[in-house]
Amino acid sequence: MSYSPSLLKGQKALVTGSSSGIGESVARQLAAVGASVVINYHSEKDEAHKIVDDIRSQGGTAIAIGANVAHEDEVKAMFDQMFREFGTIDILVSNAGLQKDAPFLEMTLDQWNLVLDVNLTGQFLCAREAAKEFMRRGVKPDVSCAAGKIICMSSVHQVIPWAGHVNYATSKGGIDLMMRSIAQELAPHKIRVNSIAPGAIKTDINKPAWDTPEAAAKLLTLIPSKRIGEPDDIGKAAVWLASDDSDYVTGATLFVDGGMTLYPGFAAGG
Ligand code: BGC
Repeated sequence: MSYSPSLLKGQKALVTGSSSGIGESVARQLAAVGASVVINYHSEKDEAHKIVDDIRSQGGTAIAIGANVAHEDEVKAMFDQMFREFGTIDILVSNAGLQKDAPFLEMTLDQWNLVLDVNLTGQFLCAREAAKEFMRRGVKPDVSCAAGKIICMSSVHQVIPWAGHVNYATSKGGIDLMMRSIAQELAPHKIRVNSIAPGAIKTDINKPAWDTPEAAAKLLTLIPSKRIGEPDDIGKAAVWLASDDSDYVTGATLFVDGGMTLYPGFAAGG
């Protein structure tokens, strides 16, 4: 099934960290079904503007805004600019995230703090700004039956412990309870809050895990579906969670992981 090109017509979306990878796909797919999108970037300004140009050349609406989501003042300035240009926000996809991997005994406080600041605090700051605007504006029935939708980009590592990546796994575990607590608090106001937990998706963040045949073969032993994911697998899930088709879904995590969380080792053991 393909989505109608007007599924999200009239809706304004912000996708953090959308100058590449999963965020880029989410932004492009939201735009393809009619949403006006903010491409948020941290350092990849040219890449962000190229995506804006592409979306516009296909008849869509997009702008690029630079901001480090870990910095409260930059987050506020980004939302202010979005409101000046688009008027409001209907959909937040909190996607910006990074890895700074190290064995536990060697992990520095800077590595710990950076990952927690961007992956977790960044999502808190963006969700809070979006929620304030959802509450102020309320439901516009001709736009959506929700007052707003927040989609948190989590990871299979919100449930799978990950040696050598304790900062990253901790940030994703934190997203789970942050998302569900916000969902519980805001549901009475018709604000839906959900997560997507991607598995191994082919992007720059995990390139060493898939860009040689040996690495890819090893990775596939962890994926029952025997396919490494593509960014569009996540983009499609985000479109559904942003749309009124998922109106009764809140506080949920949608695992899009080819079965990575299904304990693949047990397929032939236990
Ligand atoms: C990580 C990737 C990893 C995947 C599956 C993601 O959240 O960012 O590096 O390949 O989880 O382990």
